[in-house]
Amino acid sequence: MQTFELKISNGTVANSTETFTADIGVSDGKIVAIGKKIGDAERVIDAGGKYVLPGGIEAHCHIEQESSSGLMTSDDYYSGSVSAAFGGNTCFVPFAAQHRGQSLKDVLETYHGRAGPKSVIDYSFHLIISDPTDEVLHEELPQAIAQGITSFKVYMTYDRLIVDDGQLLDILTVAKKHGALTMIHAENNAMIKWMSEKLLDGGHGAPKYHALSHPRTAESEAINRAIALSSFLDTPILIVHVSTEAGARIIAQARYDGHKVFGETCPQYMFLNAEQMDLPGMHGAKLCCSPPLRDRASQEGIWRCLQNGTLQVYSSDHAPYRFDDTGKLHAGPQAEFPKIANGLPGIELRLPLLFSEGFMNGRITLNHFVALAANNVSKIYGLDHCKGSITEGLDADIAIWDPEVKREIKAADMHDNMEFTPYEGMHITGWPTTVIQRGEVIVEDNELKVDRGAGGFVPRKTIDCTGMPGKLAPELDPALNFGVDLGL
Ligand code: URP
Ligand code: ZN
Ligand code: ZN
Repeated sequence: MQTFELKISNGTVANSTETFTADIGVSDGKIVAIGKKIGDAERVIDAGGKYVLPGGIEAHCHIEQESSSGLMTSDDYYSGSVSAAFGGNTCFVPFAAQHRGQSLKDVLETYHGRAGPKSVIDYSFHLIISDPTDEVLHEELPQAIAQGITSFKVYMTYDRLIVDDGQLLDILTVAKKHGALTMIHAENNAMIKWMSEKLLDGGHGAPKYHALSHPRTAESEAINRAIALSSFLDTPILIVHVSTEAGARIIAQARYDGHKVFGETCPQYMFLNAEQMDLPGMHGAKLCCSPPLRDRASQEGIWRCLQNGTLQVYSSDHAPYRFDDTGKLHAGPQAEFPKIANGLPGIELRLPLLFSEGFMNGRITLNHFVALAANNVSKIYGLDHCKGSITEGLDADIAIWDPEVKREIKAADMHDNMEFTPYEGMHITGWPTTVIQRGEVIVEDNELKVDRGAGGFVPRKTIDCTGMPGKLAPELDPALNFGVDLGL
């Protein structure tokens, strides 16, 4: 009988479509056997009473990234990846951000240099594109896609990042040609600026007014426009950090119509609300993020859209800025809300929050938890050739969850480089007590077991939209437009 390097025995194994009791044999970093009486191993981990699940894949986080105003996130690739690992993740896909005037080649070199020596978990990058020059569109972007960077984010808001509708069409055209996925931050820039000016003119500059300055309609209008542009070209998009039920409904309708549209939400839109920003002094700044927190009814709507599959991706949007002049208050101790750094930390708590409040509380099944933790992302972002499922031949990326662990959330227990967590004081049940990456234990007994740089870059496949028929607009279809071929 075969001897494995590692065997995980007696656990309840779950993937996104099945749950079973089995032992898992691991050698050379891969899952090589799943079953009963599979053989001996050099090391055996007894997972009796625990859930053996695919390692989480965090698909939206800002790590060692300069914002458009030059502010660096508080987490680098070491602290960010360590925090992710303690939260049950074995892979993440942070952003490599192009600011105007930068070449994508230089940006990617910079981010490879940041991640390679530090990340303790496997990683890839999504590009952020803010300057779609001809060279970027026709040379650099295709090269990046060929290197396995098969997704990129664009912004419909923020003056220094925004792309206009024409630029968005150009980017979508390149994505279509090369099989990439365009992620869209969908908010109407003019509405946000208009509201911000009105609020500031009225003397409402405190952090809590940030929530009012990004109206719900700003999100739904931009989602609608993004879908109109992408479905015109019949190319896939993913709307990131959906915060409103109205926005999610537009995505649901588009998916019903067969368009290639995916949706993502984040824990802050399910567990937090704007009332919590009504704090003395500047403390509301800790909860400033974009899109902003909404109300309790919105939370319920977003939960429902996650439950019913309208939203397939659940990410932290970890954007860590400390409550000091290196972060939230970089523009001064009394800065008005438009100058407060946007973003919340949450990479370590993304999965424990969903495990506790979703699975343990009976709102989603264990299999749906796995889908949201890892499997959906592996399929949508082209990682399923190696990650996202406990399957023979895939990387042995595994998180063993103990459903008996009860914890009160405290910032002091987190492994990120933040001094607060928006979830302070919440009580949760269940925690990933052992985390294994490519067969190596990376977290155990509440300790990190690997050195900096244990993670590696993972090239991703192009996007598979099988089952999403879509339809090229008649004006672009040579069969319907007097034979004009625009090469799309
Ligand atoms: O407020 C947020 N989410 N900040 C991070 C940047 C972004 O738009 O994702
Ligand atoms: Zn965004
Ligand atoms: Zn983000």
